Amino acid sequence: MRQHVLRNKEKIIEKNGRFLADDPKGCRGRWHSLFDDGYASAPLYIEIGSGKGQFICNMAKAHPDRIYLACEGAVNVYPRILQKAGALELPNLKLIREYIIDPSEYFEKGELSGVYLNFSDPWPKDRHAHRRLTHVSKLLAYKEIMAPGTALEFKTDNDALFDFSLEQADLAGLSVAAVIRDLHASELAAENIQTEYEEKFAGEGKNINYMKIIF
Ligand SMILES: C[S@@+](CC[C@H](N)C(=O)[O-])C[C@H]1O[C@@H](n2cnc3c(N)ncnc32)[C@H](O)[C@@H]1O
Repeated sequence: MRQHVLRNKEKIIEKNGRFLADDPKGCRGRWHSLFDDGYASAPLYIEIGSGKGQFICNMAKAHPDRIYLACEGAVNVYPRILQKAGALELPNLKLIREYIIDPSEYFEKGELSGVYLNFSDPWPKDRHAHRRLTHVSKLLAYKEIMAPGTALEFKTDNDALFDFSLEQADLAGLSVAAVIRDLHASELAAENIQTEYEEKFAGEGKNINYMKIIF
């Protein structure tokens, strides 16, 4: 997909650099050291593919007792996350400005209390299926770094990707605690924090799929 060029990105990054995790692989097993002492035992949550950051920033604001890591590799997109974190002055959010390929390089066993995947790239060609963030190989990789009993939550407008992801959870032997085909018409709607893509697709009348996988 062609990326819109963000002209003032260097200025945004310079102004909001305090939200960057500069050496994310070096933070493996010691993420808490990036945050104030009050967060020493706070649970750690990540979103992979945060886009412009509306979801993860609003989650961090809504749950000030948790630590959040936004992960976004697109250089013309991630500065928007820094901008939002700066506007809200979030003490509990940092950004990994990289494409996460192997999560075990960033997190040690059981280090995470939650993973969010929102409107992940569909990679529609069969030969690219292994790149989908809900491919069985990825689900098994998340399992390694998640604390037992914690959850991955996945939202998408893409019905085919959603069906594929359910199959992959089954292949991984994981328990799916919730499957909702129309999140905005469900009882979870009231507490749902929307992403930028979600607002766009829901605004066009598309149903939003939601699943919760327990590790
Ligand atoms: C379709 S957009 C959705 C953005 C946002 N989650 C939303 O719902 O508005 C997917 C984003 O995920 C990012 N992305 C894809 N794979 C990634 C990965 N492995 N690590 C980090 N970011 C990734 C892309 O750069 C893109 O910005």
